[in-house]
Amino acid sequence: MQRPKILITRPIQQEVVDQISQHCEVQVHHIDEPMPAGLLAAAIHDADGVMPAGVRISRNIIDAAPKLRVVSNIAVGYDNIDLDACNHRHIMVTNTPDVLTEATADVAFALILSAARRVAEGDRYVRSGHWTQWQWGCLWGTEMHGKTLGLYGFGRIAQATARRGRGFSMRILYYARNRVSPSMERELGAELVDRETLLRESDFLSLHVPMTSETRHAIGAQELALMKPSAFVINTARGPIVDEEALVQALQAGGLAGAGLDVFENEPRVHPALIAMDKVTLLPHVGSATAETRMRMALLAAQNLLAALRGERPPNLVNPEAFK
Ligand code: GLV
Repeated sequence: MQRPKILITRPIQQEVVDQISQHCEVQVHHIDEPMPAGLLAAAIHDADGVMPAGVRISRNIIDAAPKLRVVSNIAVGYDNIDLDACNHRHIMVTNTPDVLTEATADVAFALILSAARRVAEGDRYVRSGHWTQWQWGCLWGTEMHGKTLGLYGFGRIAQATARRGRGFSMRILYYARNRVSPSMERELGAELVDRETLLRESDFLSLHVPMTSETRHAIGAQELALMKPSAFVINTARGPIVDEEALVQALQAGGLAGAGLDVFENEPRVHPALIAMDKVTLLPHVGSATAETRMRMALLAAQNLLAALRGERPPNLVNPEAFK
């Protein structure tokens, strides 16, 4: 029997490629950049499965792949995949939840710490050579303990961020569609509030919702206007959840104290005003970028892919309607 053909769109760990190669014929795009659409369309033409990372799998790409049975995304977010096009063709789509929760919460917390204590700004200051003497008034920041950490969305990554906030003696509020169990609320010391209360009371507002048509620009001018001028916005979810222009305006007008951003509305392009602002910490979308987590993500994506190709229900199927 012919072995299934697989396209992997990034140079992932060789041991994972080897594992998949035991069962499949594998083609890897060996350049660590998004495959250009034309190249992707040609390469996916005879593929039974694809493992994308940081590349758009549009309807056109799906249409270019008549044999495709599974899209095993190497990420927890799957807003890069046209789910309707996959559903229409009964193509299974999978993601990599859980394995990246702690790493991403670490980055959310790194951004909170950097915002509060001006870590990135201080690093730039020392490197610039402008630091010539110890000064009483040098780079005063904001304390974290006793402050309110507001979590917008309360899934796995938000809960892991709450745990870290509790370790820093912060007050934890959350806003989510569904309330978590009372025992979980007790464990995390978290209180469910309405959206407006979350925006008004947060000293650090950390975003943890998936990117959908409903969450696009969930944080815009109106929402930012409700926040304290001393507050910070932290985004490790997806850039378009924040209206970046409105964020820039709020920061420029002093309506917010700062921001910590790992994701951007038009990645990898960053609003030039953000680049120019010292009170904003910027990271290049590295929430899950640790050696341990990236290995777990690649292994889990391989597991999902191989299960789907065997005709089994993959552990992290996001479109059960495609499983026949
Ligand atoms: C990264 O952004 C992911 O969704 O895993």
